[in-house]
Amino acid sequence: MSMVENTSVSFAQSQSQTQAQSGSRAKPPAVPGIRPITPVVGAEVTGVDLAEVTDEAFAQIQRAWLAHSALLFRDQSLSDADLVAFSRRFGTLDQAPVNENGRMTAAAFPEIYVVSNIKGADGKPIGSLGAGEAVWHTDMSYLPVPPDASLLYSKEVPPEGGDTWIVSMEAALAALPADLSAAIVGRSIKHDGTYNSGGYLREGLRASDNPMDSVGTPHPIVCAHPETGRPTLYLGRRRNAYVIGLPVVESEALLDRLWAVIDQPGLSFAHRWRVGDVLMWDNRSTMHRRDPFDPESRRLMHRTQIGGKVAPQPGA
Ligand code: OGA
Ligand code: MN
Repeated sequence: MSMVENTSVSFAQSQSQTQAQSGSRAKPPAVPGIRPITPVVGAEVTGVDLAEVTDEAFAQIQRAWLAHSALLFRDQSLSDADLVAFSRRFGTLDQAPVNENGRMTAAAFPEIYVVSNIKGADGKPIGSLGAGEAVWHTDMSYLPVPPDASLLYSKEVPPEGGDTWIVSMEAALAALPADLSAAIVGRSIKHDGTYNSGGYLREGLRASDNPMDSVGTPHPIVCAHPETGRPTLYLGRRRNAYVIGLPVVESEALLDRLWAVIDQPGLSFAHRWRVGDVLMWDNRSTMHRRDPFDPESRRLMHRTQIGGKVAPQPGA
């Protein structure tokens, strides 16, 4: 077992060649290789075709997932059904959310959310989030039970820009100065639901920039990851965030100090997209953001979202 793991990359590669040549030959399990992207977050998984993942390979992917909080799979060629089938192995999928352009899903797959700046023949965008910057955020943390994870699969990418950044919120928590750690003990943040990460007003909501009265849900600032138990900082997004129980000015000052930690070097990585990449992030222990790109170029992503299983719980 451990010998197979140690030689996993070359073993899996030679094996997929053998399968391609011999067709019906019985398949020994493909064993993925795991290569950390940074010491604190992210790993690239190599030697695996997400359209056919054995239970053994999946067990290894799952271990890497919990260890690294974000996984990258390159050179994939997936149908929407393949993307949905692989995503489902992590849990029940959410229906694509309604966004600034309505509910933009892939044909016949209500669980696939289209993230794109491309306009259709009618001149209307075929997806959400446009070409602008998406600021640091966790997906849909304004809900009582936010989604566990998202998988983003690239079908068209711009020649430059549009990188997706992932930050470790476990490492961010560990990087807090002592006085800041002390200041957040037992506290919660109200996570605003008014705007999405592109700054667009969510459907049916009233525009507000008052953190005290905007719509949202409180969650502990320090959460325990429900599967690993590891403590993680849980900030959601900055706009309209409010530390429950503090006067707004104090809440703003505390949040500004916490958010400043996110941009500290060594906590994050930028993913430069190629067509055929799948990037998945743990929505409980990471945040993500996107660089803007030239609106004249095309970017098309299909996204699935793993539904939340439990509400965020307070951590140590
Ligand atoms: C998302 C998101 C960023 C990107 O789909 O939730 O934030 O890089 N996407 O498209
Ligand atoms: Mn997002």
